[in-house]
Amino acid sequence: MTTSRWPSIVPGLDEIAFGGDYSPEQWSAEVCEEDIRLMHEAGVNLVQIGIFLWAAIEPAPGEFDFDPLDRMLDRLHRADIRVSVATPTAAPPAWFFRRHPEALPVKRDGRVLGIGARESYCPSSPAYRAACERFVTALAKHYQDHPVIVMWHLNNEYGVQVGPCYCEQSAVSFREWLRERYTTLDGLNAAWGTTFWGQHYYDWDEIQPPRLAPMPVNPSQRNDYFRFTTDEYARCCRLEADIVRSVTPGIPVMTNFADPVETGYLDYWRFAEEVDVVGIDTYLMGNDPRPHIGLAFAGDVSRGVARGRPWLVNEHSTSAVTWQTHNVAKRPGEMRRNTLAHIAHGADGALFFQWRASRFGSEKFHSAMLPQAGTSSQVWRDVVALGADVRALTEVRGSLVQAQAAVLWHWPSWWAMQSGYQPTADHHYEERHRAYYEALWNLHLTTDYLAPTDDLSRYPLVVVPSLYLTSQEAAANLRRYAEGGGTVVVSYFSGIVDENDHIHDGPYPGALRELLGVVTEEFHPLRPGDTVEVAGLGARTDVWSERVVPAGAETIETFGSGPDAGHPAITRNTVGSGSAWYVAAKLDAAALTRVLRRVTAEAGIVPAVPVGADVEAVRRSGPDTDYLFLINHDAERSTTVTATGRDLLTGVEHDSGQVPLEPSGVVVLAQRRA
Ligand code: GAL
Repeated sequence: MTTSRWPSIVPGLDEIAFGGDYSPEQWSAEVCEEDIRLMHEAGVNLVQIGIFLWAAIEPAPGEFDFDPLDRMLDRLHRADIRVSVATPTAAPPAWFFRRHPEALPVKRDGRVLGIGARESYCPSSPAYRAACERFVTALAKHYQDHPVIVMWHLNNEYGVQVGPCYCEQSAVSFREWLRERYTTLDGLNAAWGTTFWGQHYYDWDEIQPPRLAPMPVNPSQRNDYFRFTTDEYARCCRLEADIVRSVTPGIPVMTNFADPVETGYLDYWRFAEEVDVVGIDTYLMGNDPRPHIGLAFAGDVSRGVARGRPWLVNEHSTSAVTWQTHNVAKRPGEMRRNTLAHIAHGADGALFFQWRASRFGSEKFHSAMLPQAGTSSQVWRDVVALGADVRALTEVRGSLVQAQAAVLWHWPSWWAMQSGYQPTADHHYEERHRAYYEALWNLHLTTDYLAPTDDLSRYPLVVVPSLYLTSQEAAANLRRYAEGGGTVVVSYFSGIVDENDHIHDGPYPGALRELLGVVTEEFHPLRPGDTVEVAGLGARTDVWSERVVPAGAETIETFGSGPDAGHPAITRNTVGSGSAWYVAAKLDAAALTRVLRRVTAEAGIVPAVPVGADVEAVRRSGPDTDYLFLINHDAERSTTVTATGRDLLTGVEHDSGQVPLEPSGVVVLAQRRA
């Protein structure tokens, strides 16, 4: 990842980015003039243009008409509003597919996806790549000297809607990818365990994508297909990045990733290496009973994708979206808290989808900075006030979030657990992660997300929810960490298989058996609706139970009922000068909070500052100043926090030691370090 090339995520901007996707092509010149005036009123300093403009700019192959975009960019330049120009390659024109129907993506069951929406392309298609190359080259050259451009926005949410493509070209590219990975067919046959169900391959051309089959396809093959898919989309991204970097080496390259906790298709650890700026599109889920925790979770994983450095909220919403089943509007104050929470979690920019609500198309009911109700609306007034808030935080830019805990996040484990024929269909990777995150949130701990082989040494606590696929390298990493004094908490269904999805030698939990000091004799998944008790915790859990036999670890809690009654549910193993806990039950966030409270008390881990139940406290540190974000998620009760500092949002100096927080209030304290 090349993020460190840039002192600020958007060097051409001297403030936190504030603005959104802007589609002037949907509006008249008069409306666009009004847009500029209103953008000034709201404090907009960055807009993203051109995301779906391919068909408008290139009406026929090789014929380019940049005039309308030129006019718009000139207008924005005169108005001193910066622009992130998009390569519109997520929406190739209809004429392209007429010439190249083979570039349409194919689903596992052979269904070809059509045009008329967006993101309907196969990432392996040579015709698609050639068309992207031609378009992006023309675009970059046309705008290479335009002073208004401060960032390139490549494509839009690579792979999010389609994921893997299963067409014939993808099959060809997959074979090439496999040849590079395994060199020999013997290597591939061994890695895929093809002696099972008689799948031995004698010729590379016999290999197919894991298309729909009568039963679950080979899980090793399937996981490789997801790896391949990440690489294919990343290649498309690199193709464009190489072009714009060669033409405009001074302008950073960004692509917008979808919310990493919602999107499982691509390995963002790997993909993020392609870009200078990690942009994330993150939306509240209306069915989340504690949506601010979902949002903090997404923020922390996003910062992980950016390897701890500041990231960009490339899209979020002022209020309702359109793609959920029930598109719930935000409550009063929620947008402000959401945006400021993203900045607390390390974002150096807060952009919205979108500037002005569309009058037509599939997203006409989507909220916007300027809603259908226009400027006489609460949303607009809140947007204007938010613009001022964001500007008041300018000095926070570039500071780094200070976390007290790390969680290991691993897309290949997520993929592998979806391959079918698992011990239970009710165990879900993202559910376990969310439960652990919520417990850490309840303890007011800030969490960094890391890849399993990353350096863990600076964290007092490492949490490992369902690291099903654990390489020997990852296992050794965790062991080294614990031996050196770290505290590890591992959930059930971790350490089970290696990179090829082969069960590790010996009993479960395989690669983590020694670290945890336990042996699992058998999994005892529960029938739907059945629950078991975890005795000392006063908790009942569903989905999972397993027979744990201590092999060095001490038993902390036992199952109180069910198939493993009387046997360990939670254990603790001393490893070097550290410890490794094993949680064999599917505890909910409340019960996990009790477990982690005990773990953190024992390890002496404390939050950034002590706060009340619904208050979020996150610290970002700059070269000589800390920024303590305090967010009260309780809309009814005020509270106080023991802290000092100057609130950047109001200018008030809090020197009494007690900082009042209104219901839904946010305070950002600048604290000079001695
Ligand atoms: C994003 C997408 C935007 C818009 C938005 C609506 O996934 O990038 O173009 O569709 O969702 O919430």
